[in-house]
Amino acid sequence: LATTEVNVSSMSPGQSITVSWRGKPVFVRYRTEEEVNAAKETPLSDLKDPVARNENLQGDAPATDENRGAPDKEAWLIMVGICTHLGCVPIGEAGSFNGWFCPCHGSVYDTAGRIRSGPAPTNLPIPTYQFTADTVIRIG
Ligand code: FES
Repeated sequence: LATTEVNVSSMSPGQSITVSWRGKPVFVRYRTEEEVNAAKETPLSDLKDPVARNENLQGDAPATDENRGAPDKEAWLIMVGICTHLGCVPIGEAGSFNGWFCPCHGSVYDTAGRIRSGPAPTNLPIPTYQFTADTVIRIG
């Protein structure tokens, strides 16, 4: 399917689901306040990849938490769940930044899905999506 619709009405902060979109895993995470704050407090100069990698933004927008989370719904993070190193699927709520950890070669992503250490070159990509209702996300 070109688009995937996800109803997230039953999710609460701290929960994640993985949905399939165009044959790829997409992580939908309802972040806790602590996770959002940790991402916001990270200086851009600490990031290995300073680009947002967000299909919904123009050009090379910076990888601030605002540019990674959903517009007006900062707790929500929607990302393609494929490690940007060699394509393994990272594990959630893991790694030294409590974001995602790739078991294949040890890449560590933070709570905004930004690469922080390990061999992956870029942040986990954010696909085109929009909230079509308060708790419904259309991906693609
Ligand atoms: Fe994820 Fe290599 S595929 S670190």
